[in-house]
Amino acid sequence: MTQRTFRFGIIGCGLMGREFASAAARWCHLLDLDVRPEIVAVCDANPDAMGWFTANVPSVRMATTSYAELLADPEVEAVYCAVPHNLHERLYVDIVRAGKHLFAEKPFGIDLRACQSILAAMRENPEVFVRCSSEFPYYPGAQRIARMIEQEAFGQIIEVRAGFLHSSDLDPNKPINWKRRIATCGEYGCMGDLGMHVLHMPLRAGWRPKNVRALLSKVVERRPDGHGGMAPCETWDNAILACESVQGFPLVLETKRISPGDTNTWYLRVVGTENSAEFTTHRPKTIRTLPYKSGGHQAWQEEDLGYEGVFKGITGHIFEFGFADAIQHMWASFLQELSGGVPRYGCATPEEALGSHRLFTAALESQRTDATVALE
Ligand SMILES: NC(=O)c1ccc[n+]([C@@H]2O[C@H](COP(=O)([O-])OP(=O)(O)OC[C@H]3O[C@@H](n4cnc5c(N)ncnc54)[C@H](O)[C@@H]3O)[C@@H](O)[C@H]2O)c1
Repeated sequence: MTQRTFRFGIIGCGLMGREFASAAARWCHLLDLDVRPEIVAVCDANPDAMGWFTANVPSVRMATTSYAELLADPEVEAVYCAVPHNLHERLYVDIVRAGKHLFAEKPFGIDLRACQSILAAMRENPEVFVRCSSEFPYYPGAQRIARMIEQEAFGQIIEVRAGFLHSSDLDPNKPINWKRRIATCGEYGCMGDLGMHVLHMPLRAGWRPKNVRALLSKVVERRPDGHGGMAPCETWDNAILACESVQGFPLVLETKRISPGDTNTWYLRVVGTENSAEFTTHRPKTIRTLPYKSGGHQAWQEEDLGYEGVFKGITGHIFEFGFADAIQHMWASFLQELSGGVPRYGCATPEEALGSHRLFTAALESQRTDATVALE
C-alpha cells in the first residue's frame, strides 16, 4: 500500500516531542494505514534539547532555535508544538497563520482568552487542520467504554467520574519548575495541566458540565528554587470539580498532582441503571463492567483486554497495550483525519479544548466565591 507522507516539524523538544518521534520511528508497527509522518525539522530554544533528535531521527534536516525559521520552511507541512503554556497562544497562532497543520498540546492556551484567540486564528485559516493531544482514550479499556457510550448501553446514567492523578509532586524537595508558576503554567494549575485528558471522553459523549462547584487545593506551598533558596508554588496542586451535566447527572472530575501512590492514573467510571463500566490505567489491561437486568445479580465482572486498539498492529491480540501504544494510536488518528479519513475515535478538538477552558475558568470563580458557578 502506498502511504501519503506528511512532513512534520516539532517545536519544543522535551518529553512529548520524543514520544512522537519514537511513535513515528516504529510506524511499521501499525497495519492498514495509508498515511505516515516524517519528522524533517526540530526547534527548541535550548539547543541541547535537540541533540537526541539529531542523533536518533535520520530524517531531521533542520535543527533550529528559531521557530520562525522552522515555519518558513516550505518542506514542513504540519507541526507538533509542545511548549510551556504561556507560549501556546503566540506559537499556535503563528503556526496556523503560516498555513501549517497543527497538533497542539493541552491546555491549548494558558487561559480562556488565549484559547479563544487561537480559535479566531483558525477561523481565518480554515484550510489548516488542528487537534489537541489526549492519548488515554486510545487504551483498549477506554475504547470499550467509548463503544458502550455509542451503543447507549448504560441505560439511565446515574453518575460519571473521571480523573487523572499524579504523585511525583508529593516530594517537597522536588525543585520548582514552570508548572508551579502562574506566569508559565497559568492560574488553572493542575486543571490546565491534566484536565483535557479528563474531559476528552465526557465532552465527546456530550456530557457537558452545566455548573461547577470546585475544591482547589495547594498542598506544597514552597519548593527549592534550584539556587539554594526556596520559591513559592503559585498554582493549584489538586482540584475536585463537582459538576451537574446538561443531562442532569453528577459529573465528578479530579485532577491531582499530589495523590500519594498514583504515578499516572487516568480513569473513567460510568454508572448506569442497565450497565456500569470502569477503566483505570492503574490496571491498564482490565475493563470492569456490571450489566444489570431487573431482579438480576449485581456483580462486577472483569475482562483482561489485549492489543485491541483503534488501529490494527503487528502485536497479537493476546499481548498487552501500553502508554507508548496509546501515543501512537493518537498520532495515527490525527494523521488519518488530516489525510481526509474518518477516524474511529478522533483526537480532542479545539472546540473540546474551549469547553475545558470554560469549565476551568468557572472553577476558579467557584473557588474564589465559595459558590456553585453556572456554565450555560
Ligand atoms: N500529552 C501528554 O501526556 C503531555 C505530557 C507532558 C506534557 N504535555 C504538554 O506538553 C507541553 C510541554 O510540556 P513538557 O512537559 O514537554 O515541557 P518541557 O519543559 O519538558 O519541554 C518544553 C520544551 O519547550 C522548549 N521551549 C521553551 N520555549 C521555547 C520557544 N520559544 N521555542 C522553542 N522551544 C521552546 C523548552 O526548552 C523545552 O525543551 C505542555 O503544553 C504540557 O502541558 C503533555
